[in-house]
Amino acid sequence: MTTKTLPAFDAFIADLRAIWARETDTKRRMELSRDRLEVLVRDPALQKHSESWPSTEGRKNLMLHEDDDFGFVVNAVVRVPGRFGSVHDHAHAYTAYGVCHGSEYLERYERLDDGSKPGHAEIKHTTTTIGAPGVVDLVPPWAIHAEQGSDRRSCAVIIRSERLVGKVLQHNYDPDAMTVVQRSGPEQIPYRLAV
Ligand SMILES: [Fe+2]
Repeated sequence: MTTKTLPAFDAFIADLRAIWARETDTKRRMELSRDRLEVLVRDPALQKHSESWPSTEGRKNLMLHEDDDFGFVVNAVVRVPGRFGSVHDHAHAYTAYGVCHGSEYLERYERLDDGSKPGHAEIKHTTTTIGAPGVVDLVPPWAIHAEQGSDRRSCAVIIRSERLVGKVLQHNYDPDAMTVVQRSGPEQIPYRLAV
């Protein structure tokens, strides 16, 4: 019977908890957490482990850790080849998004209208960063972005400053239709990095 969690992941959670205990400002906590996530997603054992993670197709996230004391959440996303992500924000939550396997395209968008018309949003694509293993994108509150898959399977580990399901409504944008809707974050599938 498996009783252990991947040691690199246990060490990662211990370090995140130390950061959140030491710092009180959410932005500062997430900047330091981003730096620690860079170390995790470069870890060969974590990268190897991610090769066996199940697909999160259908707006799901693997729930790797929810912290009872500090409220932060660690998720994983596994994209099948050719998978496209929606354009969205994470409301007032911070997100650090680190690719550990395969490659992705991390897109940012800018809002052009003033948001005064309900359901209407004009957005413009501004930048695309190539997300390769070891690259972490820190997404601030309300930043409009998309993570796009590539022609290869890809995996990412995500730190969220709080759980997005049921508590935080995020926005999803359709750049062509110029619409925006509010909806809950992805479905959470409990998943342990067992060894
Ligand atoms: Fe996102």
